[in-house]
Amino acid sequence: MDPVVTAAVPASLEVAGLAYAYPDGHQALFGVDLSIERGERVALLGPNGAGKTTLVLHLNGILTAGAGTVTVAGLPVGKRHLAEIRRKVGIVFQDPDDQLFMPTVREDVAFGPAAAGMRGPDLEARVLKALGQVGMAEYVDRPPHHLSFGQRRRVAVATVLAMEPEILVLDEPSSNLDPASRRELADILRSLDVTVLMVTHDLPYALELCPRALILSEGVIAADGPTGELLADADLMSGHRLELPFGFDPKTVRAHG
Ligand SMILES: Nc1ncnc2c1ncn2[C@@H]1O[C@H](COP(=O)(O)OP(=O)(O)OP(=O)(O)O)[C@@H](O)[C@H]1O
Ligand SMILES: [Mg+2]
Repeated sequence: MDPVVTAAVPASLEVAGLAYAYPDGHQALFGVDLSIERGERVALLGPNGAGKTTLVLHLNGILTAGAGTVTVAGLPVGKRHLAEIRRKVGIVFQDPDDQLFMPTVREDVAFGPAAAGMRGPDLEARVLKALGQVGMAEYVDRPPHHLSFGQRRRVAVATVLAMEPEILVLDEPSSNLDPASRRELADILRSLDVTVLMVTHDLPYALELCPRALILSEGVIAADGPTGELLADADLMSGHRLELPFGFDPKTVRAHG
């Protein structure tokens, strides 16, 4: 790649020295450093309680760093730029019902862009484009609560895509999906031209979708490297309470980036 062009594009996400203690005094992050370039797909792995969700909540300013910085596409996450940051960082929460609250799919997907000032035919086009990306355009007039869980998960992804985010952050995107829906969501994520950070306990899914993985353990990044190499490192895996599913051998799976 042309080095001049590379230098001109800021990283999608830059986290430096991020530490955070909850108000009750429980410290969840102890100095997290990571950088994700534009267009990368990165898995964030780690055992229960490692601090993954706490980290995600810092990416769009829901939580604010006790120490350290978070920068999205060159913009510091903080009170000053919060509206812009929320447009740039699309978070898909684990439970789609936390994200869908309007009477129709159209209104849910339109909500973010409308709040950002979009109206009329532009807004409708944006809604249909986002729903088209997740294969849900024909459900535009349906109430979200009449959809199946997997369909609601897709609509939740569309509500975020409609904002045309710089980075798409997904917390456990494959949980509670049947195998076909899980694969279809993988196809959708692979087809998108967006930076992705995916929190997951589904290690084969991480390998399939993300060329690079981070292991967050006890509030620090314990490993950062090619997903296949991390998963094949038995000592690293057991050291951080990560277990591959029975019979799964990462060395025999061909991951596609
Ligand atoms: N509101 C809170 N107040 C106090 N401590 C909290 C709060 N939320 C989370 N914690 C603690 O912070 C640590 C990190 O929690 P977090 O939810 O970020 O973990 P996680 O990696 O997302 O885990 P999981 O895989 O179970 O989703 C845990 O020890 C947890 O008990
Ligand atoms: Mg979590």
